[in-house]
Amino acid sequence: MAIRGDEPQSVEYGKLLSSKEFRALIGAHSEMTTTATYAEFAAREAQSESPTYERLSLAVSRDAEVLQRLDVLPPSKRQPNLLFGVVRFLGGPVEHPTEFHDYAMANWPAIEAELRMRTTQTNEAGRCAPLIPVLAALPQPLALLEVGASAGLCLYPDRFAYRYGNHLVGNGEPVIECTATGMTPPDGLPEVVWRAGLDLNPLDVTDSADVAWLDALIWPEHAHRRARLRAAVAVAAADPPLLVRGDLVDDLPALAAQAPDGATLVVFHTSVLFYVSAPRRETFVELVRGLPGHWIANESPGMLRYENLPRPPGEALHNILALDGTPLAWTRPHGQAITWFA
Ligand SMILES: C[S@@+](CC[C@H](N)C(=O)[O-])C[C@H]1O[C@@H](n2cnc3c(N)ncnc32)[C@H](O)[C@@H]1O
Repeated sequence: MAIRGDEPQSVEYGKLLSSKEFRALIGAHSEMTTTATYAEFAAREAQSESPTYERLSLAVSRDAEVLQRLDVLPPSKRQPNLLFGVVRFLGGPVEHPTEFHDYAMANWPAIEAELRMRTTQTNEAGRCAPLIPVLAALPQPLALLEVGASAGLCLYPDRFAYRYGNHLVGNGEPVIECTATGMTPPDGLPEVVWRAGLDLNPLDVTDSADVAWLDALIWPEHAHRRARLRAAVAVAAADPPLLVRGDLVDDLPALAAQAPDGATLVVFHTSVLFYVSAPRRETFVELVRGLPGHWIANESPGMLRYENLPRPPGEALHNILALDGTPLAWTRPHGQAITWFA
């Protein structure tokens, strides 16, 4: 069974491993799925984004003792992002593979307990940047309902500021940088009068352990994302969102019914649907299409069915931004770029 990681970062091929070396490694261990998963993560996801995780993931792919311990866990609990996040959360080292190995061996019961309990729930305020042009163009004011909200940081798009090239929108913090192509940024921010989130496991921005977990999920080199997390958490903690524990199909109608009259209901989701099975995604689409208001999706290709998509801009992984089922733009996974369709 394939192991899914949170937020694949890149589909570029490795500096560390040539694709020939990568295929040789996968082929040599084709019966060892966890080995292949870590080698693939090193070569295709961490490469170009995090030399630390690239090095570490390659080392784990060859570390029989760590692999043996991972292999007794359910597949979803073996993924690199989860293991590395848990070790960082526990205060363990990820910079040097040998130190990581020694730490993992000495602390495996604690690591395993966290792996079994936690899931990757990266909450990236930067993903608001591609939402802003769509939100600002809808009839105002808005009632925002995010499914798969994690800690709800993307529920505050109206409180942050955005720099699309030279064009600054808003005056809050954090200031989110986004390279915009083929798009005129809006003049102002949307007006939000109600915000609510639904998540299988909502995280609490006022709980230091939950915030520490969100921090641990950010890759080591991404200092700008760590600063953005702190700033976005401060915004949300000052006015905590309504977050409901529940499923995006089973519990959406009841929460949507709480949206106030006189505001445009906007159901949205970013980087959520890869956690959801294909049949449940279909049910969700049917359900959300039946609700009043609008639906914004920002998800990786293959999660929703679109016809006649243009080619993505380059090799790096992109998500697709869509309004009411119509695809509008390619976006980078953390909201760092948006390329509007011509
Ligand atoms: C990668 S996080 C993304 C969080 C946020 N949307 C963002 O972009 O920053 C995915 C979230 O979806 C939630 N999730 C997964 N399946 C879900 C479901 N069936 N119903 C509700 N939430 C779900 C997870 O618990 C997790 O918090």
